[in-house]
Amino acid sequence: MGTTQQTSKTLCSSASLRLCVKNNLAPEPSNRQTVKPSNRFLTFEGEEGTGKSTHIRLLAARLRSLGHEVVTTREPGGTPLCEAIRGLLQYDSCGEAPVPAAETLLFCASRAQLVENVIRPALKRGAWVLSDRFYDSTYAYQGYGRGFDLAKLRSIMEFAICGVRPSLTFLLDADPDTENARLADRFAAGQAADRFEREAAEFHARVREGFRRLAEEEPDRIRIIRTDGPIEAAQAAIWSAVAP
Ligand code: TMP
Repeated sequence: MGTTQQTSKTLCSSASLRLCVKNNLAPEPSNRQTVKPSNRFLTFEGEEGTGKSTHIRLLAARLRSLGHEVVTTREPGGTPLCEAIRGLLQYDSCGEAPVPAAETLLFCASRAQLVENVIRPALKRGAWVLSDRFYDSTYAYQGYGRGFDLAKLRSIMEFAICGVRPSLTFLLDADPDTENARLADRFAAGQAADRFEREAAEFHARVREGFRRLAEEEPDRIRIIRTDGPIEAAQAAIWSAVAP
């Protein structure tokens, strides 16, 4: 499973600089040029309340206990700029909700920042990276949920991620009643519902269906993990796919 690939634009190094200039392409900044292939970039996807953060915590602890460096992060978020974007996207922190196109671009802006400042450097030094959400969320929420064309989203995504892809993705899936009960517990504990959690049931049904289709399209990368049973069973399934 390859994690990173060079895109045609990242080939703009000295040998092809003249071609870039001729074609009016700016050479990519040097830190975007080379990353060793790695199978250590794992993403966790799924609807709210499916247990992503619990399973990331457990897997990170197990890998660390074996002496591995592990970087855990989340999307949107994970750097000061990305956390500020998270506030804009989830809680309208500037007082104005983004329109759907702006919402999509803000998710991608946050992703570009996280890739360059956190994920790519971590993979380069051989660390594991476990991310709570990555680009599959954009396809599920903005593609299937909001109705944006998936092919258009893919080209925006390529610009944002510049070749950095997860080697393995766990799609955590629970019965909607279980997810809703977990969310109700969070809200009872004082957590405010964000803009996505306030969306109608039909939106969430489209997102759920979107994740299912993404998993069907890429069965080797996206593994579905049921999380409505015991935590240990789900974690064992995750571990058996990852075991270094
Ligand atoms: P969460 O990290 O607490 O689950 O909240 C992130 C919310 O943002 C969640 O409702 C899913 C949504 N989201 C998108 O709509 N598109 C994206 O690309 C990402 C990363 C998240």
